[in-house]
Amino acid sequence: MEILKSIEDVRSWRALHQEVAFVPTMGNLHAGHLSLVKRAQEASKNVIVSIFVNPLQFGEGEDLDSYPRTLDADMEKLIDAGVSALFLPTAEILYEDDPFIIQPPQSLIADLCGKDRPGHFEGVATVVAKFFNIVEPTYACFGKKDYQQLRVIESMVSALNFDIKIIPVAIERADEGLALSSRNGYLSNKERAQALLLSQTLLAMKSEIEGLSKDQKIVTNSYQALEVKMTALLQAGGFIVDYLTIRAQKTLKKALAQDKDLVILVAAKVGKTRLLDNVELNI
Ligand code: PAF
Repeated sequence: MEILKSIEDVRSWRALHQEVAFVPTMGNLHAGHLSLVKRAQEASKNVIVSIFVNPLQFGEGEDLDSYPRTLDADMEKLIDAGVSALFLPTAEILYEDDPFIIQPPQSLIADLCGKDRPGHFEGVATVVAKFFNIVEPTYACFGKKDYQQLRVIESMVSALNFDIKIIPVAIERADEGLALSSRNGYLSNKERAQALLLSQTLLAMKSEIEGLSKDQKIVTNSYQALEVKMTALLQAGGFIVDYLTIRAQKTLKKALAQDKDLVILVAAKVGKTRLLDNVELNI
């Protein structure tokens, strides 16, 4: 695996290959990241991964300083996985003192995580746009766990005319159903056990919606009532719920009775750890 530390290194590596697949990460790699790598390898044999904890996407009081940094273990995993190149930029080579920021449309970021984390998606869009211009990948893989992030990136690719195919990759889960995340490492044993309620709640909502749909009993209020009921259940299980909501997959707008492709999205804190999860369904 080639280690690329400068933009020039990446450009020289890129020039050797006709097509490449890119997996941007913030490190602390787990099976979820490795499933992105695997999917990237299906698209191209030339896979480049980046590891960069992007300060622009962390708000005040968030975990930028404590975000887990495990470079040696990450490199071993990427070598074992057969990754071709690893880009390890620093904030100094990426950002000016007063960085140029990409502003995603409010219709995509005013709600959900964008509402709870002001500036977050501007930071994500900015770093990903820079990576796209530096790496010029043919394909780029993003996990569905960060569902709103995926929509922001897809929208940016279309709006800014990047010639890149975005490949969405399914959520990787631990045996008991917990969606894999670097932030799971913050959970105590007790919190980890509590956290299982998140995916259980999503699955319960999914089967309830599927049942209603089979009996043709969906009206728009059905979704609101279900959200209220299940939010209370999560709260009773010790969560502080930022949102638990049923949305249209493409637009992330509140689902209407006639929508067919839905996603149930949740963001909730257990202790100090904010967890995300979601489940898609087609009715
Ligand atoms: O999903 C992530 O890990 C980050 O948001 C990303 C896409 C690597 C940008 O920093």
